[in-house]
Amino acid sequence: MPSLRTARMGRNRKGLKTLPYISIKNMDFFEYRQGELFCEETPVSRIAEEVGTPAYIYSTRTITEHYHRIEEAFSGVPLLICYSIKANGNLAILKLLKELGSGFDVVSGGEIMRALAVDADPRRIVFAGVGKTDEEIELGLAKDIFLFNVESEQELENINRIAARKAVKARVALRINPNIDPATHKYITTGKRENKFGIDIKKAEDVIARLPSLPNVELLGFHCHIGSQITTVAPYETAVQKIIELFSRCQQSYPLKYLNIGGGFGIFYKEEEARPIAEFAEKIVPLVSATHCELLLEPGRFIVGNAGILTTRVLYTKQSGEHTFVICDAGMNDLIRPSLYQAYHRIWPVKSDILPGHAIPAERRVLADVVGPVCESGDFLAKERELPRLSRGDLLAVFSAGAYGFSMSSNYNSRPRAAEVLVDGADWRVVRRRESYESLFAEEME
Ligand code: LLP
Repeated sequence: MPSLRTARMGRNRKGLKTLPYISIKNMDFFEYRQGELFCEETPVSRIAEEVGTPAYIYSTRTITEHYHRIEEAFSGVPLLICYSIKANGNLAILKLLKELGSGFDVVSGGEIMRALAVDADPRRIVFAGVGKTDEEIELGLAKDIFLFNVESEQELENINRIAARKAVKARVALRINPNIDPATHKYITTGKRENKFGIDIKKAEDVIARLPSLPNVELLGFHCHIGSQITTVAPYETAVQKIIELFSRCQQSYPLKYLNIGGGFGIFYKEEEARPIAEFAEKIVPLVSATHCELLLEPGRFIVGNAGILTTRVLYTKQSGEHTFVICDAGMNDLIRPSLYQAYHRIWPVKSDILPGHAIPAERRVLADVVGPVCESGDFLAKERELPRLSRGDLLAVFSAGAYGFSMSSNYNSRPRAAEVLVDGADWRVVRRRESYESLFAEEME
């Protein structure tokens, strides 16, 4: 992987020379220099002082790098990357990805509008989701989006009905549930029969047999997405093989052009737990090549996950029996992944003479629960985490928080949502201001 980083030198978006520094495991452009965390060329503490905490900080170069890694890995087939907006829908990030050539994977009317807000080409928008409402289908048709990823027979009928009323033809791909275990957390497994997603592969041909009676839908391909944070290649290989078998059987009757295998590529949270993207491509590309189809991918986490940190300040520390608590100003409303999925996010002080991953001298070592201010015992960012002793006022970085961090954040406990900042080299700007107290109840009436 270092070779890729080197290959990218001098190629960043603004033509700035990309510095050849290698960060932890070469996965992002966050790096400690003289005991202080930098995002690209910008000290994280400077941003925190100016915008306050909690704040999400994103690295343009990391997003760009990961987008290019996918593009390069899958360069052996015609490819459309449709970035999955649900991972992080900030308009500045969508704009950056649009400029890199990305299309978008959306799952709601709101996400269609987000993509259009940055002038995305509607013909590069694919729309998945088990519960598309009539209004959302109408919106998708009115904006002439590229493809509806259809998840049930009833949805297919409904799209046909709405398209007929509007005298248009909807382009669709059938989302197939291949009944594959992707070996990830059960809440983010989507391609097993017991999951609500897609059309059971055993029923797919019955649904396809209905198509002649549905003249306002045009079947152009198949879609599947078997889960998220998938760290091994084998589940993809099996899923793609199953879909391709179906594909071959249907290709005689329908001019199928697109094979969408979703997203789900795993990233490094704790250590190098996921296989490199090139290994996924190595298995998938030959299978897809044989179909002469265009490959669609819907990566979310892989592009933005390592590109963001959540910065938070220590409000208090306390001891309760054996337990050490580090109480921060970011909580489960800001980053719900540890509470919801028992997810591990690396945490380290923004300023520290000990680098992450290095031994902490015993007299300075604590085993702490890093918790937030929310009134729930399930409100934590880390449990029993070994850290250098922390004090009130210290700044912490919660790493790999760029995907499903802000996008899953809420106002629980009437907490305004965090600010978001996008860094590009030594430049940075606020791309979502911290919510105000007024905004919390702006839509309410007494
Ligand atoms: N396509 C479809 C149809 C999806 O449902 C998803 C994610 C993606 C693409 C993008 O998957 P990715 O490349 O980001 O893995 N909140 C959870 C993840 C939920 C994923 C939902 N679907 C988490 O924080 O781990």
